[in-house]
Amino acid sequence: MGTLLQFYTSSVGKKLAVGLTGLFLCSFLVVHLGINLFLFAGDGGESYNMYAEFMATNPLIKMLEVVLVVGFLLHIFTSVILWFKNRSARPERYAMYDAAASSELSSRVTLLTGSVVFMFLVIHLRTFWFGSRYGNEAGYTMYQLVMRAFGNPVYDLLYITSFVILGYHLRHGFQSAFQTFGINNSRYTRLIELIAAIFWLVVPILFAAIPLYFLRMHYMTGGIV
Ligand code: HEM
Repeated sequence: MGTLLQFYTSSVGKKLAVGLTGLFLCSFLVVHLGINLFLFAGDGGESYNMYAEFMATNPLIKMLEVVLVVGFLLHIFTSVILWFKNRSARPERYAMYDAAASSELSSRVTLLTGSVVFMFLVIHLRTFWFGSRYGNEAGYTMYQLVMRAFGNPVYDLLYITSFVILGYHLRHGFQSAFQTFGINNSRYTRLIELIAAIFWLVVPILFAAIPLYFLRMHYMTGGIV
């Protein structure tokens, strides 16, 4: 434990921690998307509600929620510390050294897009997580909560914009993780880039399809939904 903590305090240790927690959060994103795709099942939310109920009540999933929160906190905390450290380590040499300047720009973009994703998460959890557990006196099912939220075009726009920014965050995040893991020039670079593109491009597009689907439903039913 002591050695692990010592490693974490080093710059390489922190970079590795950001990369690994980032990958872990990506795996959550895939599971979350997988369940959300049941929203398209066309069965009035029956299958989605079943899975959502399982996720909300299963004790193992509840334990994993704690791991998820720790993963998020570690990812955010370590990225912010790294950014400040990098900034104070290289003050004004960029005029002469382009690579350092572009790496600084890249990490600034990641920090900025990460902050937007964080703000999205606060709003998202307020609506759905908190909404389903504490603010749901009307007794709406999870599917109904989603349907009602996405009947609002402003909320949809907020989500779609957040997903574009999430894609951007993941793109930069993957690039710097590749550098950290030293797989920039490996034999598998192309394959790894393809997998990364699924995360930063395909996953956000599929997420964005959800608000659009419900917005269309809202207008098709004349605003009843
Ligand atoms: C249109 C896309 C999305 C929909 C419809 C959606 C829906 C939901 C719902 C209904 C919940 C509550 C689940 C519960 O109470 O058990 C939830 C929780 C959560 N969502 Fe999303 N979500 C979407 C996108 C995202 C994205 C892109 C992220 C991450 C960047 C995210 C992160 C989370 C987290 C961290 C939780 C709490 C963990 C949990 O309860 O399992 N969601 N989402």
